Amino acid sequence: MPASSDLPLISLASGYGNFSLPEPVAKHVQRALTRLPLPTSPTEGLPELRQALARRYQAQGATVAEESIVVTPGTKAALFLLLATVLRPGDEVLLLTPNWFGFRALIQQAGATLRELPLSPSDDYRIQPETLQAAIGPRTRLLLFTNPNNPTGRVYTRPELAALLAVTQQHPQLLVLADEIYDGIRFGPEPVPTLLSFPDPLGQHLVVNGFSKSLALLNWNMGYLVAPPAVAQACITRQFATGGAVATLSQLAALAATEATPGITEKLQANLQPSRHLLLDFLANLPAALPHLPLGTYYAFPDLRAFLDPALPPEQSSADLVARLRTAGVDVVDGATCGAPGFVRLSYAVPEPDLREAIRRMAQVLR
Ligand SMILES: Cc1ncc(COP(=O)(O)O)c(C=O)c1O
Repeated sequence: MPASSDLPLISLASGYGNFSLPEPVAKHVQRALTRLPLPTSPTEGLPELRQALARRYQAQGATVAEESIVVTPGTKAALFLLLATVLRPGDEVLLLTPNWFGFRALIQQAGATLRELPLSPSDDYRIQPETLQAAIGPRTRLLLFTNPNNPTGRVYTRPELAALLAVTQQHPQLLVLADEIYDGIRFGPEPVPTLLSFPDPLGQHLVVNGFSKSLALLNWNMGYLVAPPAVAQACITRQFATGGAVATLSQLAALAATEATPGITEKLQANLQPSRHLLLDFLANLPAALPHLPLGTYYAFPDLRAFLDPALPPEQSSADLVARLRTAGVDVVDGATCGAPGFVRLSYAVPEPDLREAIRRMAQVLR
């Protein structure tokens, strides 16, 4: 319990928002339950869901076939299925950093090694093609990034991705995996460009996505992967051998969410705006804390290096700062777990009164 308040600890650390189930989804699920039994799903997912997902990408200029899509029990499961299928021992995954802390264990479990390619907040986490080119070695099998980025909130634009792909296409052995789970949470003028909408002459492009962030399907364990048909087929074989189809009710919820995507994401974005402004205004008034404006996700990733204990090594001083915030009553993600000590990840997908109180508490530490 924090010393400064009688209220319980407020968590800005969770990766999941406080979203309620979208109405079209609730209705669809209720209707399905009046028409039992539920349909049986093949391992790879219900055909109507895979077709709806394929249409979603086709509408964004991608040529995605139903055969390329595998429905999985969550995005983490999609990531593991893909990584375990395409990676071999000794393979290296190049991860644009800062990035989601979950990747480390996934890559390890898939038997590969992780190498970080650090991007700098001082130039807005830009991906420099020549730095990427220099980082790709003989063992590098996969380039992994999130767009929008968790934790920085950076959205990579179409020209930026085109420049990145001009490099990766020079390395036919290299796969490129984009985790686009936050693609519906964006505050810039342009939609987040999907990797699937770029030409892929060498069959290198892989995408994972899910429903627990941009589509508000919390606790429905729904995700999917998109890969060239041979890779997708190998993933289906593995999912058949190690698990099975995702629960049909979850798939029907995902189908309804896919069909209602624009309405759901617009509402989420509108609902998040006040909290977003509240948090960004607070951070803008801290010295050098906000080197860039996050245009995607519901996170801010402030640079709090000005508040670190200079006597401690970076990782330790980062943990110390997180502990001080916790003592003041606010739980945050230590940026060190994302490859950026001295930064913290703050979620504003929390009730506004909680955020206001969390800001008040953080202000007591950050001065
Ligand atoms: C970048 C990223 N990928 C995947 C996941 C896992 O998503 P899911 O809940 O669908 O398993 C998360 C959750 O925090 C995430 O941030």
